[in-house]
Amino acid sequence: MVGDQSKLSIYGKDFDYSVIKGTVGPDVIDIRKLYGQTGAFTFDPGFTSTAACESALTYIDGDEGVLLHRGYPIGQLAENSNYMETCYLLLNGELPSAAELKDFSWTISRHTMLHEQLMSFYSGFRRDAHPMAIMCGVVGALSAFYHDSTDIADPDHRRISSHRLVAKMPTIAAAAYKYSLGQPFMYPDNKLSYTGNFLRMTFGVPAEEYEVNPVIEKAMDRIFILHADHEQNASTSTVRLAGSSGANPFACIAAGIACLWGPAHGGANEAALNMLREIGTPDKIPHYIERAKDKNDPFRLMGFGHRVYKNYDPRATVMQQTLREVFAAMKVTDPLFDTALKLEELALSDPYFIEKKLFPNVDFYSGIILSAIGFPTTMFTVLFALARTVGWVAQWNEMISDPAQKIGRPRQLYTGPTERDYVAIDKR
Ligand code: CMC
Repeated sequence: MVGDQSKLSIYGKDFDYSVIKGTVGPDVIDIRKLYGQTGAFTFDPGFTSTAACESALTYIDGDEGVLLHRGYPIGQLAENSNYMETCYLLLNGELPSAAELKDFSWTISRHTMLHEQLMSFYSGFRRDAHPMAIMCGVVGALSAFYHDSTDIADPDHRRISSHRLVAKMPTIAAAAYKYSLGQPFMYPDNKLSYTGNFLRMTFGVPAEEYEVNPVIEKAMDRIFILHADHEQNASTSTVRLAGSSGANPFACIAAGIACLWGPAHGGANEAALNMLREIGTPDKIPHYIERAKDKNDPFRLMGFGHRVYKNYDPRATVMQQTLREVFAAMKVTDPLFDTALKLEELALSDPYFIEKKLFPNVDFYSGIILSAIGFPTTMFTVLFALARTVGWVAQWNEMISDPAQKIGRPRQLYTGPTERDYVAIDKR
């Protein structure tokens, strides 16, 4: 919605720019004409003040610690919804009726298998390959197998490829795990729920019946909901940028997976648990807090801080609560949970973390719960990628359907040499 005009004074001259209002959140100043009018670019590395697109999917109020999917608070979805329903909501904009949900879940379940030849890709990887490396490769390779859904101009192709991606991720992720163990791959069992099926493909073996534990199934489903989408984060922006050139959705999601892998993003859940293990006992915490504050030490508290949240990440609240529920139901505990709670308490009372508004994010507690469920740390980011696929796909669809969509092509501030003549090698 275009609102007021805003005057910007540049090189002593005033220029008018429209101020566009969203339904909620900060206004944006439409500077698309700025270069044409002034000959200058804006400079915003890391996009700290730049909206790169319009989106109706997810809203974050970082100061208040609010996260909404299509308007629904994440806490309500985590409490009352399930992952399939949340997927439908993100992809279609509204919560489904019972019949719509049944139909959607059935459709997804019909796409859970992988082309058999794709399964042979796994044997090309070393057994000790990081499963995220396998995910990047196998998801990228999907475009070589599903040519019938890569015409991005066709809405049916877009819908089918979206369903395929959401449906096949658990099979791909579980196979990456099985491969690392040297165990046979498990085919999907479509009688089970999306999440139950994933647990069976991951922890089951063909030699035995696998019974899905409903407590773990619910916790895992909730963890998937918590990771389903998160506005224009680095991996989502990567998917959009890759997709803006017209690349097929499988290639775009592979790009998103590559970006998610980094420890500042999805890789933080693995890094956070490794950090807690390194800290070990609560008495060591002050030493690590001092290290995190030391500018000359690269160490950071993993699972702490966020570009947008300057308050408690609402996903971390649900994650901590889910962790308590799983521990109670399984009658287990983990001393690292006490270390994490103490670390949170000490960090949140330290002036450095208070001033910089650094709070626990979604990754702080997720590692402890995933570890309790039985996943090795290398699988943590894979689970994030699995769950985030629906968000990436929904954002990609939104972009492709937007008539104003253009190829993403940032500008730069050039600081290299000005034009100079080539010097022959014997003259250098
Ligand atoms: N430990 C210690 N200091 C920190 C931390 C931390 N975890 N996070 C930020 N800071 C400091 C940082 O050094 C900087 O200080 P100064 O202003 O003196 O230079 C200030 O806080 C602002 O940090 P920034 O790096 O400029 O903020 P950013 O928005 O660019 O980075 C972040 C956000 C998430 C990358 C960063 O907080 C971080 O590296 N956290 C640890 C990794 C992590 O947990 N990532 C998961 C994010 S949530 C899930 C996801 O999106 O994937």
